Amino acid sequence: MRIISRRCLIKLGLLGGLASGLGCGGRFGNALALPTPAETEGPFYPVNDQADKDADLTHIDGHGDSALGQYILISGRITDVAGHPLAEAMIAIWQADANGRYHHPLDSNPAPADANFQGWAIISSDDDGFFRFKTVMPGAYPATQTWTRPPHIHFKIAKQGYATLITQMYFPDQELNTTDLLLNRKSPTERSAMIAKNAGQQGNWVIYEYNVILDLLHQ
Ligand SMILES: [Fe+2]
Repeated sequence: MRIISRRCLIKLGLLGGLASGLGCGGRFGNALALPTPAETEGPFYPVNDQADKDADLTHIDGHGDSALGQYILISGRITDVAGHPLAEAMIAIWQADANGRYHHPLDSNPAPADANFQGWAIISSDDDGFFRFKTVMPGAYPATQTWTRPPHIHFKIAKQGYATLITQMYFPDQELNTTDLLLNRKSPTERSAMIAKNAGQQGNWVIYEYNVILDLLHQ
């Protein structure tokens, strides 16, 4: 995690009272963390409501079968730039299924859609800022004829008093990460913050850790 103290000084100028509340006031050496980088929302933010939007995207209520693909568990913590956990942040998640298809009317990918994959979810962080959800490893999909997006999960995270974050989470050890036009616009430090960490395996589930830092609400 990159630590910056200069931001603290900037906050003092822009947001005096709030920066003081974060422990910056009078302590210029106190370091704040870099917020998680934002990324484009993309064209597939969910537009159709659905009954099941819980934290298990591998199964839709009422379906006899579960989703196709490698089952994964994503867990992490949401904090502010000073490291305070953020409880009850709203976390919207959307991603392609294992075939690389979104459950979205504008997705023109000819790959077959997995009717048993939930597609998107809305969850919240707990009292200590932690969240977790079960899903499948998203498939890579063609963004253009010459550009294939690596597996990724879209996030929109909102918490009153903080800047709403729209970003994309990537997976480690994915060859397509090295050629992705979006990820490679980021600095090495930003890329590192956007790529989840492999946290082992439990049975058939591969576990990833993805921590998120929300920025202060800019005026
Ligand atoms: Fe996407």
